[in-house]
Formats: sequence, C-alpha cells, structure tokens
Amino acid sequence: MSGSDSVDGVARFLARNPGMSFVADAEGMLAGCVLGGHDGRRGYLYHVSVSPQFRRRGVARGLVARTVAAIAAEGIEKIHIDVFADNGAGLAFWRAIGWHDRDELKRFSFTPPSGA
Ligand SMILES: CC(C)(COP(=O)(O)OP(=O)(O)OC[C@H]1O[C@@H](n2cnc3c(N)ncnc32)[C@H](O)[C@@H]1OP(=O)(O)O)[C@@H](O)C(=O)NCCC(=O)NCCS
Repeated sequence: MSGSDSVDGVARFLARNPGMSFVADAEGMLAGCVLGGHDGRRGYLYHVSVSPQFRRRGVARGLVARTVAAIAAEGIEKIHIDVFADNGAGLAFWRAIGWHDRDELKRFSFTPPSGA
C-alpha cells in the first residue's frame, strides 16, 4: 500500500478509469477486488486481492477476466501488472491464468519532490 491508496488516491484512479475496476460481492461480503485502468497506450492492474476465505474458487480469475475485457474494449493491446518477486502465490496465479513473466525487463521508478 502507498499514498496512492488513500481514499482520494483511489477515487482519482477510478475517475480516470471508469468501468475498469471491480469488486466481487459474496452476499454482501467483499470477497475480492481489482483496480484496472490504462494510460492510453498500456493497461495496468493493481491490487488484485481476494479475501482468504474465498480463495481458490476462481474469484481472482473472474475479476481479472472482467477488467481485461473492459480495458481491451478501449483498444488497449497489452496489460501489465507488477508482482513482488517473493510473492509465490501471486506469481503462481498469474502464470496459471496465462500471463507471462517479463524477465528481460527491469522496472525503474522515480518519486518527484513534492510540489514539483
Ligand atoms: C493471488 C490471489 C489474488 C489469487 O486469488 P484466487 O481467487 O484464490 O485465485 P483463483 O481461484 O482465481 O486461482 C486461479 C488459479 O491460479 C492458481 N493459484 C491461485 N492461488 C494459488 C496459490 N496460492 N498457489 C498456487 N497456485 C495458485 C491456481 O492454478 C488456480 O486454479 P485452481 O484453483 O483451479 O488450481 C490471492 O491468493 C490473493 O489475494 N493473494 C494476496 C494478494 C496478492 O498476492 N495478489 C496478487 C499479486 S498482485
């Protein structure tokens, strides 16, 4: 989690990417969620997460299918997700649903000074 996950931060993301993020509702309980969006060139998913008691029932698979369909419908050809390298279950999930590792890439990040 980061500052981007504040209420305002999530609201900004949803406003920029309407109709591409989903929750899984299990009789009023929040079973899972995904944040999906794109920058006009590539799609990005964040926080694919399923509550422990609802795991291994295809909830994440279904959430990802929906957000991928919504992003692809906007004409976006490729979608990325960052996964921590030590998240074994996460890595197994993405591989199981047909996403492929990008071992040839290394991500660089930069945090602009506040006010810049
Ligand atoms: C990873 C996570 C989202 C998977 O959610 P889920 O709803 O249990 O996943 P699904 O039931 O759709 O799984 C689809 C397939 O992925 C694979 N998979 C899912 N979880 C797995 C695990 N813990 N270990 C190995 N394979 C796994 C399986 O092949 C599974 O199919 P199967 O159950 O028929 O064998 C969930 O474990 C989670 O919320 N983890 C914590 C947050 C996280 O790590 N998110 C992903 C990183 S971005």
